[in-house]
Amino acid sequence: MWEYTEKVKQFFLKPKNIGEIENPDAVGDVGSIVCGDALRLTLKIDKETDKIIDAKFQTFGCASAIASSSALTELIKDKTIEEALQISNQDIAEFLGGLPQEKMHCSVMGREALEAAVADYKGIPKEVEEEGKLVCKCFNVTEEKIRKVAIENHLTTVDEITDYTKAGGGCGECKPEIEAILRDIWSLKLPEKPAKPKKLTNLQRIALIQEVIEREIRPVLQADGGDVELIDIEGNKVVIALRGMCTGCLMADVTIGSVQNKLRELVGDEIVVEAQ
Ligand code: FES
Repeated sequence: MWEYTEKVKQFFLKPKNIGEIENPDAVGDVGSIVCGDALRLTLKIDKETDKIIDAKFQTFGCASAIASSSALTELIKDKTIEEALQISNQDIAEFLGGLPQEKMHCSVMGREALEAAVADYKGIPKEVEEEGKLVCKCFNVTEEKIRKVAIENHLTTVDEITDYTKAGGGCGECKPEIEAILRDIWSLKLPEKPAKPKKLTNLQRIALIQEVIEREIRPVLQADGGDVELIDIEGNKVVIALRGMCTGCLMADVTIGSVQNKLRELVGDEIVVEAQ
């Protein structure tokens, strides 16, 4: 499980400013329930001074998403629109005493909701605000967003992009394109991927699959209230069962894809994962 700070726990268990403002002056909607996280931010704004008088949020997501959204509303209240726009996703994470690296996408979602609400207040059409080539189809992440988040947070690896945007965290097909975008931004030779183990015996292979599931996969799912159980291994086929919040989740196919992706990365390209 992730280590959450006391402040994250406090803002998750007793979130401030939860709900929706009646007749808001601005609404910022980001994410989607299909992608696992969604956030609606509503603002009451003094039109004379452009000061945010009230801010409320509704979110569908994990503990970090709730804590980050609540932190955002606390940070922006009593600030003008321009002052609020100076708040970065890192500021949201710092306000909470830090977030686990894998959960930084929650702070990014907060910052995006603020930008969406400000765009709504200024009457900027949604299509203009969201334009950009779609890179990650599993999580609906555009090239523009990857570039923006990478530059703002100094991210240089695909794993970091996944932590901050979720892109690449499903089937993994978009990873080469994310890598190309990072090369283009930083003109860097990205670190080589760890070499996969050479020829393994059947017993070594089974042990490695079990270890990867325990060490790399279960903690990530458990952090969001889900889990996975290894049911069987038949040749290249790994049979799993999703448990907890993962059972019947709309994102079950993406979760299975990401389990397969991780096993292919750390055990072998021939692995095929099926759910029971
Ligand atoms: S397309 Fe990006 S993870 Fe599937």
